[in-house]
Amino acid sequence: MDCASTPGEARAYGLACDRPLATPSHKREVDLSDKSRYEKPRLAVLGLGHVGLPTALGFVELGWEVIGADDDASKVAMIQSGKAPFSEPGLDDLLARGLASGRLTLVHCVEEAVRGATILFVCVGTPQKDTGEADLSQVEAIVRTIACNLNGYKLIVEKSTVPAITAQWIKRTLARFAKLGNGLGKLHPEFDVASNPEFLQEGKALENIFRPDRVMVGVESERARALLERLYRPLDCPILITDVRTAELTKHAANAFLSTKISFINMVADICEAVGADVTQVAAGVGLDPRIGREFLNAGIGFGGYCFPKDLRAFMYLGREHGVDCGLLAEVEKINLRRTEVFLKKVRHAVWVLRGKTMGVLGLAFKGGTDDIRESPALHIVKALLEEGVQLRVHDPQAMEASRQEIPPQAGRLEYCSSPYDAAREADALLILTEWQEYRDLDFRRLHELMEVPVIVDGRNLLDPEIVRTSGFEYLSMGRHDGAERPAIPVESAS
Ligand code: UGA
Repeated sequence: MDCASTPGEARAYGLACDRPLATPSHKREVDLSDKSRYEKPRLAVLGLGHVGLPTALGFVELGWEVIGADDDASKVAMIQSGKAPFSEPGLDDLLARGLASGRLTLVHCVEEAVRGATILFVCVGTPQKDTGEADLSQVEAIVRTIACNLNGYKLIVEKSTVPAITAQWIKRTLARFAKLGNGLGKLHPEFDVASNPEFLQEGKALENIFRPDRVMVGVESERARALLERLYRPLDCPILITDVRTAELTKHAANAFLSTKISFINMVADICEAVGADVTQVAAGVGLDPRIGREFLNAGIGFGGYCFPKDLRAFMYLGREHGVDCGLLAEVEKINLRRTEVFLKKVRHAVWVLRGKTMGVLGLAFKGGTDDIRESPALHIVKALLEEGVQLRVHDPQAMEASRQEIPPQAGRLEYCSSPYDAAREADALLILTEWQEYRDLDFRRLHELMEVPVIVDGRNLLDPEIVRTSGFEYLSMGRHDGAERPAIPVESAS
């Protein structure tokens, strides 16, 4: 049996591990002269970051032998010692089981991983250039390494988010460098390139791996299709098989659409605020329509993280390069960039002059459930407030260490606090910048006693206005009633 037969994460997510992995139709297509087509292939995951490590451990849990490779030797050593290099719920346990299983090999020599496996998942970073274009230099470097180490058939699978033309370049690069460097003297090295985009959300990565909504596989050969279907069949979800470009593009389209939903609701929040309506109820009302759906309609300080902002820009860049008007997405980005100013305006509205005030900040991560601060809207706001001369006392359940690296503590200006209560001490206002569930359950009466002025500005609409106000706070949030009287019609029309 190919998949895990022991109880574990896979079982915990309700996977049916006793399903046959080869269908009669695949058997018919197997070329018996090539053993790699029906033997159990070994996998390599190249790049052990937020996507690569959960992916590698997920496959190990499902029963596959996996070589995890990263050229950062200290990261590999850390993983080998049983410690994940970033925080992700359940990951440390999964790593412990993976290491104990004997099916996980960790190396920092990427060449070794390429030579030791048949299916190679490319999970390296695709950061952005100043132009918004995706920087594919890490992808190219890894593909050249693969090309020089082709010791048999390889299926190269793009998992990193890449623009919809990348597979073509991977194929050309493989063909070009394989001829030069594989030592086999082969003019036609055997490989396939496939796209299998990840749809992992930080904080829910394992749930997304073991219970995905869908798996998308873009292939150009029956062999690649059979191999990838075999990997994913134990996951009880739709498997969409497409051509490679379609799979590549789907990932960008999904992230662009989700970003659009967020900017849309943020625009609606501003209108709600202007006319005195409540955006959370509007979101509930429109979200009950199954054509719309309630998820990703939470108004606030905007979207951040390593994916949405850069993927949006890369998708616009791709569109522009091909003469497609991406004005819609440009607006999505513009609305998002404006959220910091919208929030600062609200803080000014709450406390009047900013300079010299002391404020507690709850939340630094780009969203709840992670220690990731990349493109965090919370940090944009922290930086803006420091520039305005506000003294900040900040807290985050997981992202303090990373934030300290990015913005070191400054005596009398920025202090990292060990608890939300410590952050609130003698503050003129308390700002909620990340949607950590634990901030919902704070003792508001205690907070009230600690603060100089009992004002809360909630950038994530995390708190229940009723509870906070009955605890004696002045409470402002995003696109919800703040208790102020508002005109029901525009002032110009009223006159
Ligand atoms: C996102 C996508 O949700 C994943 O499907 C995708 O696989 C991943 O990017 C990726 O490309 O790798 P992630 O970056 O982990 O996942 O974060 P999200 O949960 O999508 O949140 C992104 C940002 O939007 C956060 O700053 C969050 O606070 C914000 N957000 C989210 C809102 O402001 N409102 C919402 O309603 C939802």
